[in-house]
Amino acid sequence: MNTTTAASDRYARAIEASKRIRWDIDRDVIRGRNFDFTRKFLPDGISKLDRLGFLGADDRRLLGQIQGRTYANMFGLVERFIAPTMLDISRDHWLGDQKAMEALVRFTDEELKHQELFRRIESMVAEGMPAGYQFLPLPNDVAGLVLGKSKWSVLALTTHIELFVLAHYRQSIDPDGELSELFKDVFLYHWKEESQHAILDELEWQREDAKLTAEARDQAVTDLIELVGAVDGMLQVQAKSDADYFLKVCRGPYSEAQSTLVREGVLFAYRWQYIISGVEEPRFQKILGGLISQEQFGRIGAALAPIMATKH
Ligand SMILES: [Fe+2]
Ligand SMILES: [Fe+2]
Repeated sequence: MNTTTAASDRYARAIEASKRIRWDIDRDVIRGRNFDFTRKFLPDGISKLDRLGFLGADDRRLLGQIQGRTYANMFGLVERFIAPTMLDISRDHWLGDQKAMEALVRFTDEELKHQELFRRIESMVAEGMPAGYQFLPLPNDVAGLVLGKSKWSVLALTTHIELFVLAHYRQSIDPDGELSELFKDVFLYHWKEESQHAILDELEWQREDAKLTAEARDQAVTDLIELVGAVDGMLQVQAKSDADYFLKVCRGPYSEAQSTLVREGVLFAYRWQYIISGVEEPRFQKILGGLISQEQFGRIGAALAPIMATKH
Protein backbone atom coordinates (compact mmCIF):
# COMPACT_ATOMS: atom_id res chain seq x y z
CA MET A 1 0.00 0.00 0.00
CA ASN A 2 1.47 3.40 -0.90
CA THR A 3 1.59 6.29 1.57
CA THR A 4 -1.39 8.16 0.12
CA THR A 5 -3.63 5.08 0.27
CA ALA A 6 -2.47 4.30 3.80
CA ALA A 7 -3.27 7.85 4.94
CA SER A 8 -6.66 7.79 3.19
CA ASP A 9 -7.41 4.56 4.98
CA ARG A 10 -6.60 6.12 8.33
CA TYR A 11 -8.89 9.09 7.61
CA ALA A 12 -11.65 6.63 6.67
CA ARG A 13 -11.17 4.73 9.92
CA ALA A 14 -11.29 7.99 11.89
CA ILE A 15 -14.66 8.79 10.25
CA GLU A 16 -16.04 5.33 11.10
CA ALA A 17 -14.94 5.65 14.71
CA SER A 18 -16.30 9.19 14.95
CA LYS A 19 -19.73 7.94 13.76
CA ARG A 20 -19.69 4.96 16.09
CA ILE A 21 -18.61 6.90 19.21
CA ARG A 22 -20.62 10.08 18.66
CA TRP A 23 -22.34 11.17 21.89
CA ASP A 24 -24.73 13.82 23.03
CA ILE A 25 -24.03 16.14 25.99
CA ASP A 26 -27.36 15.67 27.76
CA ARG A 27 -28.49 12.26 26.60
CA ASP A 28 -25.18 10.46 27.15
CA VAL A 29 -22.92 12.50 29.41
CA ILE A 30 -24.94 14.59 31.88
CA ARG A 31 -28.13 12.47 31.98
CA GLY A 32 -29.82 14.87 34.42
CA ARG A 33 -27.09 14.33 37.01
CA ASN A 34 -25.12 16.76 39.16
CA PHE A 35 -21.60 16.69 40.55
CA ASP A 36 -21.21 14.88 43.85
CA PHE A 37 -19.17 17.30 45.96
CA THR A 38 -18.59 14.66 48.64
CA ARG A 39 -16.33 12.87 46.14
CA LYS A 40 -13.11 13.68 44.32
CA PHE A 41 -13.13 15.25 40.87
CA LEU A 42 -9.54 14.63 39.84
CA PRO A 43 -7.55 11.52 40.79
CA ASP A 44 -4.43 11.98 42.95
CA GLY A 45 -2.19 11.03 40.02
CA ILE A 46 -3.30 14.24 38.28
CA SER A 47 -3.93 16.64 41.20
CA LYS A 48 -0.60 15.68 42.83
CA LEU A 49 -2.11 16.37 46.27
CA ASP A 50 -0.06 13.62 47.89
CA ARG A 51 2.66 16.28 48.16
CA LEU A 52 0.45 18.28 50.55
CA GLY A 53 0.00 15.75 53.35
CA PHE A 54 -0.86 18.42 55.96
CA LEU A 55 -4.22 19.27 54.36
CA GLY A 56 -7.32 18.07 56.21
CA ALA A 57 -9.61 15.65 54.32
CA ASP A 58 -12.21 18.31 53.42
CA ASP A 59 -9.59 20.78 52.25
CA ARG A 60 -7.81 18.12 50.25
CA ARG A 61 -11.05 17.30 48.46
CA LEU A 62 -11.79 21.01 47.91
CA LEU A 63 -8.38 21.72 46.40
CA GLY A 64 -8.79 18.75 44.06
CA GLN A 65 -12.22 20.03 43.03
CA ILE A 66 -10.84 23.51 42.31
CA GLN A 67 -8.16 21.87 40.15
CA GLY A 68 -10.86 19.79 38.45
CA ARG A 69 -12.82 22.94 37.66
CA THR A 70 -9.74 24.51 36.09
CA TYR A 71 -9.00 21.22 34.28
CA ALA A 72 -12.39 21.38 32.51
CA ASN A 73 -11.98 25.11 31.77
CA MET A 74 -8.50 24.55 30.38
CA PHE A 75 -9.78 22.07 27.79
CA GLY A 76 -12.55 24.47 26.78
CA LEU A 77 -9.79 27.06 26.33
CA VAL A 78 -7.42 25.01 24.15
CA GLU A 79 -10.29 23.75 22.02
CA ARG A 80 -10.92 27.37 21.01
CA PHE A 81 -7.72 27.24 18.93
CA ILE A 82 -7.82 23.53 18.05
CA ALA A 83 -11.19 23.82 16.27
CA PRO A 84 -10.21 26.69 13.91
CA THR A 85 -6.83 25.04 13.30
CA MET A 86 -8.55 21.92 11.99
CA LEU A 87 -11.04 23.95 9.98
CA ASP A 88 -8.13 25.86 8.45
CA ILE A 89 -6.17 22.70 7.63
CA SER A 90 -9.22 21.09 6.02
CA ARG A 91 -8.68 23.62 3.19
CA ASP A 92 -5.74 21.50 1.98
CA HIS A 93 -8.20 18.67 1.31
CA TRP A 94 -11.06 20.63 -0.28
CA LEU A 95 -10.06 19.56 -3.79
CA GLY A 96 -8.39 16.36 -2.70
CA ASP A 97 -9.13 13.44 -0.40
CA GLN A 98 -12.76 13.87 0.66
CA LYS A 99 -12.29 11.35 3.47
CA ALA A 100 -9.63 13.62 4.95
CA MET A 101 -11.92 16.62 4.66
CA GLU A 102 -14.81 14.81 6.33
CA ALA A 103 -12.56 13.55 9.14
CA LEU A 104 -11.39 17.11 9.87
CA VAL A 105 -14.88 18.61 9.69
CA ARG A 106 -16.06 15.99 12.19
CA PHE A 107 -13.04 16.74 14.37
CA THR A 108 -13.93 20.46 14.34
CA ASP A 109 -17.57 19.73 15.12
CA GLU A 110 -16.57 17.53 18.05
CA GLU A 111 -14.33 20.25 19.50
CA LEU A 112 -17.20 22.75 19.26
CA LYS A 113 -19.36 20.28 21.17
CA HIS A 114 -16.61 19.76 23.77
CA GLN A 115 -16.43 23.51 24.34
CA GLU A 116 -20.17 23.55 24.97
CA LEU A 117 -19.76 20.62 27.38
CA PHE A 118 -17.01 22.38 29.32
CA ARG A 119 -19.05 25.59 29.56
CA ARG A 120 -21.90 23.52 31.00
CA ILE A 121 -19.53 21.89 33.50
CA GLU A 122 -18.22 25.29 34.62
CA SER A 123 -21.71 26.61 35.36
CA MET A 124 -22.74 23.41 37.16
CA VAL A 125 -19.58 23.30 39.30
CA ALA A 126 -19.94 27.02 40.08
CA GLU A 127 -23.28 26.32 41.77
CA GLY A 128 -21.67 23.94 44.25
CA MET A 129 -18.62 26.03 45.19
CA PRO A 130 -18.17 29.22 47.22
CA ALA A 131 -18.05 32.43 45.14
CA GLY A 132 -14.69 33.89 44.15
CA TYR A 133 -13.23 31.36 41.72
CA GLN A 134 -11.91 32.89 38.53
CA PHE A 135 -10.70 31.32 35.31
CA LEU A 136 -8.43 34.03 34.02
CA PRO A 137 -7.20 33.16 30.50
CA LEU A 138 -9.45 34.69 27.81
CA PRO A 139 -10.17 32.04 25.17
CA ASN A 140 -10.23 34.37 22.16
CA ASP A 141 -7.03 36.18 23.23
CA VAL A 142 -5.17 32.92 23.80
CA ALA A 143 -6.47 31.48 20.51
CA GLY A 144 -5.44 34.68 18.70
CA LEU A 145 -1.90 34.39 20.04
CA VAL A 146 -1.61 30.69 19.20
CA LEU A 147 -3.06 31.02 15.70
CA GLY A 148 -0.46 33.70 14.96
CA LYS A 149 2.26 31.04 15.10
CA SER A 150 3.26 28.62 12.33
CA LYS A 151 0.86 25.74 11.64
CA TRP A 152 3.60 23.20 12.39
CA SER A 153 4.01 24.55 15.93
CA VAL A 154 0.25 24.68 16.57
CA LEU A 155 -0.09 21.08 15.34
CA ALA A 156 2.79 20.07 17.61
CA LEU A 157 1.10 21.71 20.60
CA THR A 158 -2.26 20.17 19.67
CA THR A 159 -0.79 16.67 19.30
CA HIS A 160 0.89 17.09 22.68
CA ILE A 161 -2.39 18.14 24.33
CA GLU A 162 -4.51 15.41 22.78
CA LEU A 163 -1.98 12.73 23.71
CA PHE A 164 -1.86 13.79 27.36
CA VAL A 165 -5.68 13.79 27.44
CA LEU A 166 -5.54 10.10 26.53
CA ALA A 167 -2.76 9.32 29.00
CA HIS A 168 -4.50 11.09 31.92
CA TYR A 169 -7.71 9.18 31.32
CA ARG A 170 -6.13 5.76 30.85
CA GLN A 171 -3.56 6.01 33.63
CA SER A 172 -5.44 7.91 36.35
CA ILE A 173 -9.10 8.73 35.74
CA ASP A 174 -10.38 5.35 34.52
CA PRO A 175 -8.89 3.23 37.35
CA ASP A 176 -10.04 5.58 40.17
CA GLY A 177 -13.26 4.36 41.85
CA GLU A 178 -13.56 7.35 44.21
CA LEU A 179 -14.39 10.06 41.69
CA SER A 180 -17.67 11.91 41.21
CA GLU A 181 -19.44 9.72 38.65
CA LEU A 182 -20.40 12.66 36.47
CA PHE A 183 -16.90 14.12 36.52
CA LYS A 184 -15.50 10.74 35.51
CA ASP A 185 -18.04 10.34 32.71
CA VAL A 186 -17.24 13.78 31.27
CA PHE A 187 -13.66 12.65 30.76
CA LEU A 188 -14.65 9.16 29.62
CA TYR A 189 -16.73 10.61 26.79
CA HIS A 190 -14.15 13.25 26.02
CA TRP A 191 -11.43 10.59 25.85
CA LYS A 192 -13.47 8.51 23.38
CA GLU A 193 -13.56 11.28 20.78
CA GLU A 194 -10.03 12.48 21.54
CA SER A 195 -8.65 9.06 20.62
CA GLN A 196 -9.54 9.81 16.99
CA HIS A 197 -8.21 13.34 17.19
CA ALA A 198 -4.76 12.17 18.25
CA ILE A 199 -4.53 10.02 15.11
CA LEU A 200 -5.56 12.91 12.88
CA ASP A 201 -3.16 15.33 14.62
CA GLU A 202 -0.27 13.05 13.82
CA LEU A 203 -1.28 12.70 10.15
CA GLU A 204 -1.73 16.44 9.71
CA TRP A 205 1.43 17.37 11.59
CA GLN A 206 3.49 15.05 9.41
CA ARG A 207 1.80 16.33 6.26
CA GLU A 208 2.52 19.93 7.28
CA ASP A 209 6.10 19.01 8.13
CA ALA A 210 6.68 17.61 4.63
CA LYS A 211 5.93 21.06 3.15
CA LEU A 212 8.61 22.89 5.16
CA THR A 213 12.13 23.90 4.24
CA ALA A 214 14.83 23.30 6.84
CA GLU A 215 14.76 27.02 7.76
CA ALA A 216 11.00 27.10 8.12
CA ARG A 217 11.10 24.01 10.34
CA ASP A 218 13.77 25.58 12.52
CA GLN A 219 11.57 28.67 12.91
CA ALA A 220 8.62 26.39 13.73
CA VAL A 221 10.65 24.83 16.55
CA THR A 222 11.25 28.34 17.89
CA ASP A 223 7.50 29.00 17.65
CA LEU A 224 6.79 25.80 19.58
CA ILE A 225 9.18 26.89 22.33
CA GLU A 226 7.41 30.27 22.48
CA LEU A 227 4.01 28.58 22.65
CA VAL A 228 5.09 26.40 25.56
CA GLY A 229 6.43 29.55 27.27
CA ALA A 230 3.03 31.22 26.77
CA VAL A 231 1.24 28.17 28.19
CA ASP A 232 3.54 28.25 31.20
CA GLY A 233 2.87 31.96 31.76
CA MET A 234 -0.84 31.24 31.76
CA LEU A 235 -0.40 28.33 34.17
CA GLN A 236 1.49 30.52 36.61
CA VAL A 237 -1.32 33.07 36.65
CA GLN A 238 -4.08 30.46 37.02
CA ALA A 239 -2.18 28.44 39.64
CA LYS A 240 -1.79 31.57 41.75
CA SER A 241 -5.46 32.46 41.35
CA ASP A 242 -6.59 28.93 42.29
CA ALA A 243 -4.26 28.72 45.30
CA ASP A 244 -5.40 32.17 46.55
CA TYR A 245 -9.05 31.16 46.14
CA PHE A 246 -8.43 27.89 48.00
CA LEU A 247 -6.64 29.65 50.88
CA LYS A 248 -9.54 32.09 51.17
CA VAL A 249 -12.35 29.51 51.28
CA CYS A 250 -10.66 26.48 52.91
CA ARG A 251 -11.10 25.43 56.55
CA GLY A 252 -7.42 25.71 57.44
CA PRO A 253 -5.83 27.40 59.20
CA TYR A 254 -2.46 27.00 57.53
CA SER A 255 0.85 28.63 58.39
CA GLU A 256 2.70 30.90 55.96
CA ALA A 257 5.04 28.03 55.13
CA GLN A 258 2.12 25.70 54.44
CA SER A 259 0.41 28.33 52.28
CA THR A 260 3.60 28.57 50.25
CA LEU A 261 3.61 24.80 49.83
CA VAL A 262 0.00 24.97 48.58
CA ARG A 263 0.98 27.60 45.99
CA GLU A 264 3.98 25.57 44.85
CA GLY A 265 1.95 22.37 44.83
CA VAL A 266 -0.76 23.82 42.59
CA LEU A 267 1.81 25.26 40.17
CA PHE A 268 3.64 21.95 40.02
CA ALA A 269 0.35 20.10 39.41
CA TYR A 270 -0.57 22.46 36.56
CA ARG A 271 2.85 22.25 34.94
CA TRP A 272 2.66 18.49 35.19
CA GLN A 273 -0.91 18.37 33.83
CA TYR A 274 -0.48 20.67 30.83
CA ILE A 275 3.21 20.45 29.94
CA ILE A 276 5.31 17.76 31.63
CA SER A 277 2.96 14.77 31.25
CA GLY A 278 2.57 15.42 27.51
CA VAL A 279 6.27 15.99 26.92
CA GLU A 280 7.02 12.70 28.67
CA GLU A 281 4.50 10.77 26.54
CA PRO A 282 6.55 8.26 24.50
CA ARG A 283 4.25 8.61 21.47
CA PHE A 284 4.75 12.39 21.43
CA GLN A 285 8.52 12.06 21.72
CA LYS A 286 8.56 9.50 18.92
CA ILE A 287 6.57 11.67 16.48
CA LEU A 288 8.54 14.83 17.36
CA GLY A 289 11.85 12.99 17.22
CA GLY A 290 10.97 11.74 13.73
CA LEU A 291 10.52 15.30 12.45
CA ILE A 292 13.36 17.34 13.94
CA SER A 293 17.13 17.12 14.37
CA GLN A 294 19.01 16.20 17.54
CA GLU A 295 20.07 19.83 17.82
CA GLN A 296 16.46 21.04 17.68
CA PHE A 297 15.39 18.36 20.14
CA GLY A 298 18.08 19.66 22.48
CA ARG A 299 16.90 23.25 22.01
CA ILE A 300 13.39 22.25 23.11
CA GLY A 301 14.80 20.27 26.03
CA ALA A 302 16.83 23.26 27.25
CA ALA A 303 13.77 25.54 27.05
CA LEU A 304 11.72 23.03 29.03
CA ALA A 305 14.36 22.41 31.68
CA PRO A 306 13.22 25.10 34.17
CA ILE A 307 9.61 23.88 33.88
CA MET A 308 10.53 20.21 34.26
CA ALA A 309 12.69 21.14 37.27
CA THR A 310 9.60 22.19 39.27
CA LYS A 311 9.29 18.49 39.99
CA HIS A 312 12.10 18.48 42.51
FE1 LIG B 1 -11.84 17.92 22.96
FE1 LIG C 1 -9.66 16.90 20.47
